[in-house]
Amino acid sequence: MPDRIVAALREKFEIENFVGFDLGVNRVPRIVVTIPPCEAHIYLHGAHVTHYRHRGQSPLLFLSEKSLFQNDKPIRGGIPICWPWFGPNKQNPSFPMHGFARTSMWELQGVAQIPTGQIELKLSLTPNEQSKNFFPHDFVLDYTITIGDTLELALRATNTGDQPFTYEEALHTYFAISDIRKTQLLGLGGSTYTTKVAPPGTHTQGPDPLLFTAETDSVYTNNTAECTIIDPPGDRTIVVGKQNSNSTIVWNPWIAKAKAMPDFSDEEWPKMLCVETANVWDNAITLALGQSHTMYQRIATRQLSQ
Ligand code: BG6
Repeated sequence: MPDRIVAALREKFEIENFVGFDLGVNRVPRIVVTIPPCEAHIYLHGAHVTHYRHRGQSPLLFLSEKSLFQNDKPIRGGIPICWPWFGPNKQNPSFPMHGFARTSMWELQGVAQIPTGQIELKLSLTPNEQSKNFFPHDFVLDYTITIGDTLELALRATNTGDQPFTYEEALHTYFAISDIRKTQLLGLGGSTYTTKVAPPGTHTQGPDPLLFTAETDSVYTNNTAECTIIDPPGDRTIVVGKQNSNSTIVWNPWIAKAKAMPDFSDEEWPKMLCVETANVWDNAITLALGQSHTMYQRIATRQLSQ
């Protein structure tokens, strides 16, 4: 079956030398993009970008060596899509954490090389029997991934039903870094955040770069700022730009939480930092009938020594 899916995708969408299809980890169908400036991998499971690397550089996205690649489980690393809720579901905590988009099979709608030379992938998700149990609304999610010198992501939700609905969303990006203890995060100064780490509370971020010395799980609301990750040992900065996103989540599980996650190895916590482009909590989006909303994230990098 996976072989047949890959064969059908190749026939319809392959762009010789640039966009191919194969069976990735655990024989899950995967899109492989290889163009002069960079390479990227995208799984149809969750429309999940698991890999993005500039030629001659180390990957920009962290992917756990213990990630499960199973139908009912999210991939640990890369860019999971949290939709239509973030964290536990408020009405029913037994519903899947972070919604169902990251564990759904998305449909590939189009692959193109656009005039700039970038590769543009278009994927979509519509309700299915299972998702209707969690979210009884008619919607279309369109996800456009533009791959080149930068990695650009646009997540558009459209209400195709006859009732308004409200949703939360996050591009839960796991950035690959050399060592969280030597990493700085800029851009959040002056923003209000709520930490989920005990004791939970709401604070205002000071003007200095954010440094990491313990578990961090902070939700910044009413925040539209671009963030910059500074990774001195890796000799690079990563700039996370965004539009139509009013929330940012910053997460690193540190030692104990890392040990408690079955799909994350005990030693991996220093190597990742999640900076999530989102609309959550008070920033949730309400769509009237026929309305759409698009959230954008743009990832760029440069060497510090340049
Ligand atoms: C973050 C949340 O966005 O995702 C954390 O703020 C959570 O609380 C983390 O632990 C990972 O979630 P999951 O479901 O992928 O393990």
